[in-house]
Amino acid sequence: MVTTTPGRTPARRAADATTELAVRVRGLHKRYGEKQAVDGLDLDIGRGEIVAVLGPNGAGKTTTVEILEGFRERDAGDVQVLGEDPAHADRAWRARIGVVAQDSRDRAELTVAEEVRSTARYYPAPADPDEVIAAVGLAEKARARVRGLSGGQRRRLDVALGIVGRPELLFLDEPTTGFDPQARRSFWGLVRGLRDSGTTILLTTHDLDEAAHLADRVVVVRGGRVVASGTPDTLGRPEARTPVVSWTAGGESRSERTTAPTALVARLAATAAGPDGEIADLRVVRPTLEDVYLELVSHEETDR
Ligand SMILES: Nc1ncnc2c1ncn2[C@@H]1O[C@H](COP(=O)(O)OP(=O)(O)O)[C@@H](O)[C@H]1O
Ligand SMILES: [Mg+2]
Repeated sequence: MVTTTPGRTPARRAADATTELAVRVRGLHKRYGEKQAVDGLDLDIGRGEIVAVLGPNGAGKTTTVEILEGFRERDAGDVQVLGEDPAHADRAWRARIGVVAQDSRDRAELTVAEEVRSTARYYPAPADPDEVIAAVGLAEKARARVRGLSGGQRRRLDVALGIVGRPELLFLDEPTTGFDPQARRSFWGLVRGLRDSGTTILLTTHDLDEAAHLADRVVVVRGGRVVASGTPDTLGRPEARTPVVSWTAGGESRSERTTAPTALVARLAATAAGPDGEIADLRVVRPTLEDVYLELVSHEETDR
């Protein structure tokens, strides 16, 4: 049912509509000296979405995330995170976001439990620290000093510190670096659980598999701007996902992109098959997300 509330102007309703977005970025720019790290980046993240920002090293992912977290100044562009500009945000806003930075903070003298508890105290309505420690798989290490943790355990502690405040919006900057495959799987389960409880998540990764497993939407960044965006299934230009039929005829390799591979194979069977009825070296391949991604990021970087 649509109702009109007296006194609400169209402009006011439009402003309400934009708050459905947890993150709204338009024309973001950031330069370090001569290096244009972020170069006109646009990004929308709806509330409750998991968006993976995927891109090679140096693409500008961390710089973008740090600007959204309010830890780095931008040169230009409009940025709204949970309805506020992070450059001017206050403590109340900060308590609504969770941050897992690319590099661990160092407070090696504390134990895992002490570190999680002391971080929890910064937030108005934190989760139970012991439950968070268990959720990231560190229950057995709760009394261990942070200094003695392995790289993967250290990373899981970072995640615990990022989620203990029960943030509405969680930033995960390459969170699974140093995880073994099993830790990675269980971390993915944890992230899905957070999403199911309503947390919006911006994840950066250069791991396609991770993006494909976790993200509702993938945004590919190269040279500081978005070069493609879509669900893991539809990413890239439509033709990038079109099957390729390849075969050998007259000693020459042939291939053809076609949306109708069955019809092509039937035609080849009638025209290019050998005496035994077989088409030599016949293959039908639908490009994977990885193929599409590599094509997207493989173009020569322009030097600046
Ligand atoms: N503090 C900094 N000072 C100078 N250059 C930087 C700094 N941080 C990042 N850069 C450069 O900006 C570009 C983008 O880096 P970054 O945002 O870390 O990308 P990503 O996270 O995608 O690897 C890279 O070329 C990097 O070397
Ligand atoms: Mg980075």
